[in-house]
Amino acid sequence: MEIFLALVVFIAIHSLRQAKKQGLPNWPLVGMLPSLILGLRKDMYEWISDVLCRMNGTFTFRGPWFTNLNCVVTSDPRNLEYLLKTNFSNFPKGDYFRSTVRDLLGDGIFNADYDNWHKQRKPASIEFHSAKFRNMTTDSLLELVHSRLLPVLEDSIKQSNPIDLQDVLLRLTFDNVCMIAFGVDPGCLHPHLPQIPFAKAFELATEATVLRFVTPTLVWKTMRCLGLGTEKTLKHSLKKVDEFADEVIRTRKKEISIADSKQRSDLLTVFMGLRDEEGKLFSDKFLRDICVNFILAGRDTSSVALSWFFWLLDRNPEVEQRILAEICKILNEREDAINESPLIFKPAEIKKMDYLQAALSEALRLYPSVPVDHKEVVEDDVFPDGTVLKKGTKVVYAIYTMGRMEGIWGKDCREYRPERWLRDGRYMSEPAYRFTAFNGGPRLCLGKDFAYYQMKFTAASILYRYHVKVVEGHPVMPKMALTMYLKYGLQVKLSRRDQSQLPLNNKYFM
Ligand code: HEM
Repeated sequence: MEIFLALVVFIAIHSLRQAKKQGLPNWPLVGMLPSLILGLRKDMYEWISDVLCRMNGTFTFRGPWFTNLNCVVTSDPRNLEYLLKTNFSNFPKGDYFRSTVRDLLGDGIFNADYDNWHKQRKPASIEFHSAKFRNMTTDSLLELVHSRLLPVLEDSIKQSNPIDLQDVLLRLTFDNVCMIAFGVDPGCLHPHLPQIPFAKAFELATEATVLRFVTPTLVWKTMRCLGLGTEKTLKHSLKKVDEFADEVIRTRKKEISIADSKQRSDLLTVFMGLRDEEGKLFSDKFLRDICVNFILAGRDTSSVALSWFFWLLDRNPEVEQRILAEICKILNEREDAINESPLIFKPAEIKKMDYLQAALSEALRLYPSVPVDHKEVVEDDVFPDGTVLKKGTKVVYAIYTMGRMEGIWGKDCREYRPERWLRDGRYMSEPAYRFTAFNGGPRLCLGKDFAYYQMKFTAASILYRYHVKVVEGHPVMPKMALTMYLKYGLQVKLSRRDQSQLPLNNKYFM
């Protein structure tokens, strides 16, 4: 008995001492799993950041011996540049990531490597950069903000009700991405905020998918086979997601058969016209995957970024004042705008809003819409920081942590300070390997320019008209999902802005 106890004490001391060297206690059999479970119960991203900051930006997570949860976690910009650009081909998403998210994302662009990725990236990139597409995005956004978003916000004031701004913004970006990617208007953002079964199903599906990353593969695969717990939820949710995508594809095929597809400029129509290596049109399953991936890309990113932005403004009123001053300065430069009603920001004016762009970038630095991302090592390699990578190693890069590293942003890295993005009053972008919110290298976000335009136009249109106050005591924390939702949404109360108090030369109307 005494020998047994001595052995237990020895193992405990040894495991805890390893925490200093390896970042976390590494227990026999279960590895670092106990720490992960504790981290998951609090704020997972803060927990990872704490370990990474102690370990100078890189550590190896060791899962239980019977699982494949081992991975290298990094937030070191040198490693990021290496894996996203310098040695890009050695770091695909990999089999582990692909098989974990395949039920939801299929073979779509987020879950594709090599040829399959190229065949989606190229046509999508051409489309995103075409003038026709750009015009469509600005037109559809203008219509959505002025005919749907602002009336919904106005309604909440008339009824003096708080409103979940994150929910409203998710509806806006969902309608918007469906319009630009599939040429379909799902009508999610309507005054009575109708229940959209697809939206709920999509959220549940992403949540259940992300849980697979912290569950041993054998365990979630068994749960999937037996239809248990989150795997059961995933199965039901996917049915609804598939129904929505199938309906979009069916409708579009019908439309194309009776009209000239050249008149349409949405992504789905482009992909429907393409052929694979064997000269065959893409299958309906592949078109479904394209739809689901673009919904994830376009719906769940700018909406959550804007939600964190409005929460940060609530805590930093001086930033809101500076944004308003910039908006007014730009409006005062108008030659023709007296009494325009409603006031609509022009694309050239949005472009000039450097301070607003800085404030949004600063929100994304602290709350990146994609907080962590994954890669897998193809051939043995070594990171610039000296970390040895064996073939097949999983690499997690912690974008959330990068925004909180003193080595990158200085001592005030946890403060919300848009000024850090400005030089002589002009917005200066940061290299993608320091500010990785939009990824970097060949897989840089395709929607980056559109997302900035969308966020700036939406934010300026709201802030010019309303003061947004977060409801007192509303709990704010991130949710564990593929993108960084606020776990409890963002309950706000709006009040109309007194326009006579704004420093404007002319009188503008709502
Ligand atoms: C604030 C807004 C946004 C942020 C922070 C963001 C961030 C990202 C990130 C981190 C990735 C890399 C994901 C990965 O490979 O795992 C990505 C890729 C991508 N994004 Fe965005 N995104 C935003 C908005 C958008 C929008 C509005 C669209 C389109 C409508 C879009 C389209 C894409 C596409 C197609 C990819 C895949 C690129 C590839 O793998 O080659 N994004 N984005």
